[in-house]
Amino acid sequence: MQDAFLNRLEALLKEDFSSYLECLNQIPKKAVHINTTIVKQKELLKPLLKDPIPFDSDGFYIEEEKPGKTIFHTLGLFYVQEPSAMMPVLATPFAKDAIILDLCASPGGKTLQLANLAPDGIIFANEPNPARARKLVSNIERLGLKNVIVTQMTSLELKQKFQGYFDYILVDAPCSLEGTFRKDPLAIKLWSQDRVLEMAKIQKELLKDAVTMLRTNGKLVYSTCTFSKEENEEVVLDLLLSSPLKLLKVDQKLFPYTRCGLKEFGKEVQKTRRGYPFLIGEGQYFAVFQKQTEEKINSFQTKMEELEKEEENYIVPAIQEVMTEIPFSIKKYHHHFIAVPKKLENEKIPALKTDLCFVKIGELKKGRFIFHHQFARCYGIYFKNQVHLSIDDPLLKKYLSGLEIEVEIPDGWGVICVEGFPLGLFKASHGILKNHYPKGLRN
Ligand SMILES: C[S@@+](CC[C@H](N)C(=O)[O-])C[C@H]1O[C@@H](n2cnc3c(N)ncnc32)[C@H](O)[C@@H]1O
Repeated sequence: MQDAFLNRLEALLKEDFSSYLECLNQIPKKAVHINTTIVKQKELLKPLLKDPIPFDSDGFYIEEEKPGKTIFHTLGLFYVQEPSAMMPVLATPFAKDAIILDLCASPGGKTLQLANLAPDGIIFANEPNPARARKLVSNIERLGLKNVIVTQMTSLELKQKFQGYFDYILVDAPCSLEGTFRKDPLAIKLWSQDRVLEMAKIQKELLKDAVTMLRTNGKLVYSTCTFSKEENEEVVLDLLLSSPLKLLKVDQKLFPYTRCGLKEFGKEVQKTRRGYPFLIGEGQYFAVFQKQTEEKINSFQTKMEELEKEEENYIVPAIQEVMTEIPFSIKKYHHHFIAVPKKLENEKIPALKTDLCFVKIGELKKGRFIFHHQFARCYGIYFKNQVHLSIDDPLLKKYLSGLEIEVEIPDGWGVICVEGFPLGLFKASHGILKNHYPKGLRN
């Protein structure tokens, strides 16, 4: 570890510095966050879950060496997330139907937490880096989230579309990653004092754009996983001085696991919180703001189009043929058929560069309707044709590796379910199930 970093941290932590050094030699404990949008009772996961995370009823420590390799992960039942990374979303409450922007969203750990807490809202999850946006989409598909729109835009582009629009914005900003050094040697290599300053500049810009997109009284949560004051308290103070915001007190349940913001930035900034590996998890800083000025809400034309009659005539029967009921509205966005939760069917969504808008239903190919994997993950429990496998069924291994399996079942589209959770699609013909599990996910 670089001396420049250690010297800076010693000056910042003072008497806590030795506790930090001690932590560096300890192996971080693994933890997961449960996907409560689909897991209604945790019985099935009991053998895997160990002690609960003290401030989060849906977070648990886990002893499994590679939780990401388990079938429960494949089924989207949890997200691997270290405990301190769970704190920013818990810092302040928001409504179950909040319209949310997760400005720096990939790989999507906090997007899941937001979706758990706002099942009736919309979460715009943004990620400008194309490879990381793909990772975000794949996680959202795995988790079976139905109310997320993934954009791949800059904050400047977003700000032009969404003035005064969001109830809640999370800026989990790119940072110098000082809080991840214990588990990520690459972060140590990338660190420099210049990088700290470079990140602080980006963070200030992101936050200013975020303020424009917040409605009156809307909440803004800023978080980093770094310790430097340049990227934390200094950024917060800069925003307070330049924007119509006040700082709110963070939820008290997080107090025992964090310290207050640095005293040298004044009493107000002490409302922000600092997480350290010698308290819990790794490293995290977060602040909660509220907007105080009057803002006009954007009124944009809806871009979720209704189906044309001709389209309705083939897509509705195609869905009716395979499902027991249609618990969503069918709309179009950028020429894709999408399943929109009924409560959101009248929401207006502006034209955006999206990678995902709610749930992809499928597409017409050579006169046949082909269902999308995400559709099966989100609405598979409504399929008429279901093959139920237990986690130790040898057919499961076969299906996951992309092979055909033999099961007597009526011809047509169906879904493989494992312990009741939809895994992926098949198309049955004379007792042979043609495998439609995506090639990129097979093993
Ligand atoms: C700390 S990570 C986000 C982690 C994520 N919130 C989670 O909980 O899984 C920061 C993300 O911000 C993205 N990013 C970098 N520059 C950005 C920018 N100018 N605007 C928005 N996001 C940016 C990075 O690619 C990275 O994926």
